[in-house]
Amino acid sequence: MGWFFRRRQEVMVTGPQPGDIEAMADIHARSFARPWNAADIHRLLDGRGVAALVARPEGAGNGPPAGFVILREAADEGEIITIATEPASRRSGVGRALMHGAIRHLQGDRIARLFLEVSEDNAPALSLYRQLGFRRVGIRKGYYASERKDVAAPGTPKPAPSALVMELDLR
Ligand SMILES: CC(C)(COP(=O)(O)OP(=O)(O)OC[C@H]1O[C@@H](n2cnc3c(N)ncnc32)[C@H](O)[C@@H]1OP(=O)(O)O)[C@@H](O)C(=O)NCCC(=O)NCCS
Repeated sequence: MGWFFRRRQEVMVTGPQPGDIEAMADIHARSFARPWNAADIHRLLDGRGVAALVARPEGAGNGPPAGFVILREAADEGEIITIATEPASRRSGVGRALMHGAIRHLQGDRIARLFLEVSEDNAPALSLYRQLGFRRVGIRKGYYASERKDVAAPGTPKPAPSALVMELDLR
């Protein structure tokens, strides 16, 4: 077994170009059990107060983005709807850069609080959010039951994971 070290890279975070939507759908499909296609993402982005940011490693040119985040704002509250990094680019700073971009965007719009939901068994995401200062403010028991493929399997089913509701004060 070998060791390798993934270098931290500079990451550019911008609004998506029209051609990025297909890549966002592709990243989503490789990151979540229930994939969204490009039409789903277009529909979402047409919603009131919804915005997206994409991330490209510096020097990667105009290739497909390595990750994206979709957020929504209403009154003085923001919400992370989804965030994902393309699997081969994980753990190199893309997710953190996207979250920083989202926070800057929301602060620019004078949003006071940012919320998100995360499965209690999603260790990478929980670690990212805790590092950014999010704290747990609620729990939705068994929320991810429908996402699990193993719930109906024979034998003793594992309890479906709960969703943790987390909040970050942006003021
Ligand atoms: C969660 C996710 C977006 C993180 O993206 P990423 O680009 O890998 O994140 P980063 O490289 O910026 O990592 C930032 C921090 O997240 C945490 N983290 C990321 N991957 C981790 C892992 N595999 N294990 C533990 N912590 C991890 C660490 O705290 C890391 O900081 P560090 O590297 O300084 O220790 C990515 O794992 C992903 O796309 N997962 C699938 C989709 C998903 O679950 N989205 C969240 C839904 S709520």
